[in-house]
Amino acid sequence: MIKAIRDEPGVDEIVALDIRPERVRQLRDELGVMATDSPAAVLDDPEVKLVFVTASNAAHAPLTLAALEAGKAVMCEKPIATTLADAERVVRAAEAKGAFLQIGFELRYSKLYTQVKNWIDQGLLGDVVNTQCNYICEEFHKKGSWRNRLETGGGMFGEKLSHYVDQPRWWVGSPVKDVFAVCAPNVVPYYEVHDNYHAVYRFANGAVSELTFVMYMAQTYQGDPLKDFVATQSRDGHELRYRIIGTRGAVETDVFNRRILRWEFGDAPERMISTLVEEATWTREEDSRHFHNEDGQNRDIVRRVLAGEPPATPARDALETMRLVFAAEQSADSGELVSV
Ligand SMILES: NC(=O)c1ccc[n+]([C@@H]2O[C@H](COP(=O)([O-])OP(=O)(O)OC[C@H]3O[C@@H](n4cnc5c(N)ncnc54)[C@H](O)[C@@H]3O)[C@@H](O)[C@H]2O)c1
Repeated sequence: MIKAIRDEPGVDEIVALDIRPERVRQLRDELGVMATDSPAAVLDDPEVKLVFVTASNAAHAPLTLAALEAGKAVMCEKPIATTLADAERVVRAAEAKGAFLQIGFELRYSKLYTQVKNWIDQGLLGDVVNTQCNYICEEFHKKGSWRNRLETGGGMFGEKLSHYVDQPRWWVGSPVKDVFAVCAPNVVPYYEVHDNYHAVYRFANGAVSELTFVMYMAQTYQGDPLKDFVATQSRDGHELRYRIIGTRGAVETDVFNRRILRWEFGDAPERMISTLVEEATWTREEDSRHFHNEDGQNRDIVRRVLAGEPPATPARDALETMRLVFAAEQSADSGELVSV
């Protein structure tokens, strides 16, 4: 993040904050930035205009609230907080102050997904009625990680899957009415949060989104056609596919095979037909811009704050995604359909 924004016009200096002394030393030595373990050194400095909250999840709400209180513009990583009540508190605080607050849903900047949004906005898919996301990954956080515990990570949906809830909301463009989620027993025994879900969201306009997520040791499967890409997969996953189906066409995205396909539906004398009209790919070097374009997002946030522009997506919109995240956890735990 620091490397991405340090040379942006208008950025004179970056101060890094961490509570761990070894991390402060590392930030100072390896990146050559000012680094401190004192929040006051950041919050009380009037030259600091923008704060990026990139600490572990339980620290998001307290750090964001403190930065807003100190009059800073804030970018806060997803999830906004580890509870819905805290996420609401954060967004209300920003709104009460009229402050800049953008949440780190960088997939809304990623070319793979902005392409889908552009096609939808051009009407090429008609009305989006059904989206499906299949996400299979290995266990990616080791034993003892803060991510694996509910109180420090906030649950798998918020920590990992919030991106894949945020995107269908963005594409369908209608409020979600209700959520149903089920989980099987965990595969990864030291995860104190769920490691698998089938979740279904129903939107007010009738559209339906489905998200299937499961962690298992896919990386070691020798028949895996992607086994040569272990380095790419080792943190991100194994399979991440979307199908976005509209009344006039459909799109399929496949992150790890670097593929995006678009079909148009047509009418023929005997039945409906579909025609593949676009097929795109990209190189490994372009992965970050297509998949997780954090650099693009963070540069845009710097530019917006300097220009006095609002966030690309209001924090209240991100709060809706958080509402769905916690509703999915509630449904998975209770076995009940949850109205939103
Ligand atoms: N948007 C994305 O795609 C994306 C990708 C990766 C990580 N993230 C988010 O970024 C955050 C950090 O992830 P990570 O992998 O770097 O975690 P990490 O555990 O490697 O680093 C977190 C750091 O926060 C520090 N920290 C904890 N509490 C603090 C506090 N009160 N004040 C200052 N520093 C504190 C820790 O000492 C640690 O160095 C998480 O919220 C994660 O969800 C988002």
